[in-house]
Amino acid sequence: MDELVFLKLGGSLLTDKTRPQVLRGHVLARLAAEIAAALRACPDLRLVIGHGSGSFGHVTASRYGTRAGVYTPEQWRGYAEVARVAAELNRLAVNALAEAGVPALRLQPSASALCHDGELRTLDERPIVAALAHGLTPVVYGDVALDDVRGGTIISTEEIFRWLAPRLNPRRVVLVGEVAGVLTADPASGVRGELVAEITPATLPHLAQALGGSRGIDVTGGMVAKVAEMLALAQATPSLAAVQVISGWVPGLVRAVLVDPTHRAGTRITAGRV
Ligand code: IPE
Repeated sequence: MDELVFLKLGGSLLTDKTRPQVLRGHVLARLAAEIAAALRACPDLRLVIGHGSGSFGHVTASRYGTRAGVYTPEQWRGYAEVARVAAELNRLAVNALAEAGVPALRLQPSASALCHDGELRTLDERPIVAALAHGLTPVVYGDVALDDVRGGTIISTEEIFRWLAPRLNPRRVVLVGEVAGVLTADPASGVRGELVAEITPATLPHLAQALGGSRGIDVTGGMVAKVAEMLALAQATPSLAAVQVISGWVPGLVRAVLVDPTHRAGTRITAGRV
């Protein structure tokens, strides 16, 4: 039986988040090769790939305050600029995936996304469903979106996954980042955090205080927001076994986790159902 997995490649992993629009091409190429190898090893594996924006979208979005709203002509130019640089990173990601042999199909979230006061309310999942049905690997990404209260805003890959999960019924979500999983302290704070092996709705409040933001500029709320988003996703998606947060720095780990659902690594986020 087909196993559908949502896989996010974090923007802080694919780019140097402290320098505007700098791609880590070697990291992207390695991850693309691991994804291609996993698809070859498991003919039943189906992937929806999403990627963040790192120092492409976040820097521009922060300059124009796009997440908070888009009202003035200057801010609308900023909106278009964020969309352009986010799509630019997507072009690089899709190229790398295609070169590695993944049948990647780019789908631009902002082409159909509509938000209400910062919350994603609509996104057309039909092109994604069709792509999967025909053996393709759809690729989405953190993007701008129209908003009926704020004019425009920013949607993260996690928010897109949260919208898609109850509609596509993935078995797993794998988030690949630059840290080993969810840590009890922000690596940028200098405090050495410990890896949190398991997160459920019951354990989140204890963690929320300890979890900091993320390195560089992050307009979509850093790690706390991403964990909360993933818990909501898990609770809304009965088909889902777990969300796994893993490091993209360990060569072979993405392949291992994709190929083997029981492979233990990083942090597991679940709805806590028994
Ligand atoms: C951010 O998307 C989108 C933009 C700033 C345009 P994500 O929240 O998914 O990106 P990363 O992983 O934090 O970079």
